[in-house]
Amino acid sequence: MSSVKIAPSILSANFAKLGEEISMIDKAGCDYIHIDVMDGHFVPNITFGPEIIKKIRPYTKKIFDVHLMINPVKKFIPDYINAGADIITIHEEINDDVENCLRLIKKHGLKTGISIKPNTSEKKLEKYLDLLDLILVMTVEPGFGGQTFMHSQLKKIKNIREMIGEKSIDLEVDGGINNSTSKLTIEAGANVLVAGSAVFRNCNYKHNIEELRSI
Ligand code: DX5
Ligand code: ZN
Repeated sequence: MSSVKIAPSILSANFAKLGEEISMIDKAGCDYIHIDVMDGHFVPNITFGPEIIKKIRPYTKKIFDVHLMINPVKKFIPDYINAGADIITIHEEINDDVENCLRLIKKHGLKTGISIKPNTSEKKLEKYLDLLDLILVMTVEPGFGGQTFMHSQLKKIKNIREMIGEKSIDLEVDGGINNSTSKLTIEAGANVLVAGSAVFRNCNYKHNIEELRSI
């Protein structure tokens, strides 16, 4: 049984039938549901907010892995907690105090994540390691699905895997993950793969998820 977890990004799902899509990827065997929240400010795209997350929550018991590509973020964290998030990942590049945000998420019993854009050094994460359950490495510039994987991030993934050492922190990768790049990221040390277009490219979600997981 592979220890690699698959987190389909619903950014690539059919928004006109989101609830149905969620139960389909649940039945197809995904591990997490990756929810890309974008505010049109931190990234040049707008997706969905807490009300949509609240509405899709009843469609699955799988982990809601909420990726907040928003800035500011602190004042909105309670909304995502109430909406049913299980993991809340914020970006290191935000203006808010990152440590305060991580402590707020933790205080409510949720898992904490931090994400860094391709141009942000992994060294910026070192001071937060004791507060983290997940590190999300962007392998594209955040904002859109269907972009090309950035091989330049493989060294960063390796370095973060070393930084994590024995700590139980998930190393998640996000952007351009498909059947060939998935293997590169797993070999570099990733154990959670976000995939939007690779999962939703056709309606055979079970096959697409299993292919990504097999290295
Ligand atoms: C991009 C998002 C990614 C994206 C992945 O900003 O954070 O999760 O949806 O989509 P693919 O897998 O198509 O690159
Ligand atoms: Zn994402």
